[in-house]
Amino acid sequence: MAKKLWGGRFKKQIDSDFEEFSKSIQYDYKLSRIDVFHSIIHTLALGGSKLLTKAETKKILDALNSIIRDIDTKKFNPDMNSEDIHTDIHNRLEKKIGGLAAKVHTLRSRNDQIVFNEKFYCLDEALNIQSLLKNLIDSCICLMEKYAKQPFIGYTHTQRAQVILFSDYMIAFANMFTRDLKRIKQFYDSVVPYIGAGALAGTSLNKKEYGKAIEVFFDYKQAESEKVKSVENSMDNVSDRDFIMEFLGGISIVQMHLSRLCEDFILYSTQEFDYLDLPEEFCTGSSLMPHKKNPDFLELVRGYTGRIYGNQISLMTTMKGLPMTYNRDMQLDKEPLFSSVEIIKDELKIMAKFIKGVKLKNKVIEKALQDERLYATELAEFMVFKGIAFKNAHDIVGKIIRYSEDNSIAIKDMSDELLKTFHAQLNNKDILKVMHSEHAVSSKKSINRKVPRVNA
Ligand code: ARG
Repeated sequence: MAKKLWGGRFKKQIDSDFEEFSKSIQYDYKLSRIDVFHSIIHTLALGGSKLLTKAETKKILDALNSIIRDIDTKKFNPDMNSEDIHTDIHNRLEKKIGGLAAKVHTLRSRNDQIVFNEKFYCLDEALNIQSLLKNLIDSCICLMEKYAKQPFIGYTHTQRAQVILFSDYMIAFANMFTRDLKRIKQFYDSVVPYIGAGALAGTSLNKKEYGKAIEVFFDYKQAESEKVKSVENSMDNVSDRDFIMEFLGGISIVQMHLSRLCEDFILYSTQEFDYLDLPEEFCTGSSLMPHKKNPDFLELVRGYTGRIYGNQISLMTTMKGLPMTYNRDMQLDKEPLFSSVEIIKDELKIMAKFIKGVKLKNKVIEKALQDERLYATELAEFMVFKGIAFKNAHDIVGKIIRYSEDNSIAIKDMSDELLKTFHAQLNNKDILKVMHSEHAVSSKKSINRKVPRVNA
């Protein structure tokens, strides 16, 4: 049986199956560095409160720093026999400084450590996700600039609707990711890692000592270290997992945007649409059908939406109706958190490369742009500017389209004589001008185009 941070009141040994079942070391080892941070602040506070001598404080801090060095130089292998990362770090400390390690946990609880650790983890990862989102936005802008003036086919209800600019289409996605970026930044700004909650009721160490300890800790210069504060409400602190739900919520929205992008690109690269040529290095073939080039990356990203939404729902359900304050249920918050963070980072990283490799198939797009139905709205609008009420214009154009379909005659091929049977003011010359992609795009005056700039 592995060494524990508790046990004095127990006569029986822990059941070995239950012991395995209750462990979290297999995933919470990811928090090792941050767990040492907590120990550093706590040791400084104990030293300031005279519960440790200067020499003891120094000895413990030296040992903790050497554990950080081991972590940074990848010499740290978590001991999978430990119950959790807090126990693992404690055992490591004991190996280095013997019995003195027993003093580090004075007036401290893992309930305080774990929430501190998780907040730091979220802060670190929020910064990483922000920088990945910036790269992705840059890629969307690169693709947009490559095809700046290209008219494209716009859809509603997955039915051809109106002509748009491909650049506007890409800016739409860049805007989504820019909102995501802001959301993650707001989340970052709102998170405060507290220290000093004890198990739930606070500790007898003075908040001033925590304050001084935190100030010394700032020297570690980890970007997030300046956010640490001594606890304001100890019960709320140990039982709060809102920040994880918020982070997972932000990640879920990023995922939703990615999955919409994937769906469009999958559709537009089918032989049925055929507007896009996807970068080959992110596609795979079929073991049976030699001709296949499958959009697997896009499908996997779309597929991961289930996992990412599931992770959020999993935590929300775990937290539902939990009595105050800490409960062991909350240990199960880490796998969904780590899972979503790891998936979204991979997706964002690869998607930024993917988008740069997307090519438009201009010939197919030009052909699709010949579809006269794409200009029906433009024709109705043109009639409005000739003084015809919109509802009437809508009706007249509807009739022209119907006639065109029933008699297999293009509107552009209709004679003036025929057009006048629909409305006296219609003629072929105007039709040719109005039912054209250039007119469709240039007649839109309401758009105040803005390209998101995130690296400024
Ligand atoms: N492994 C635990 C968790 O992740 C750490 C806190 C344990 N606290 C306790 N009272 N058993 O939540």
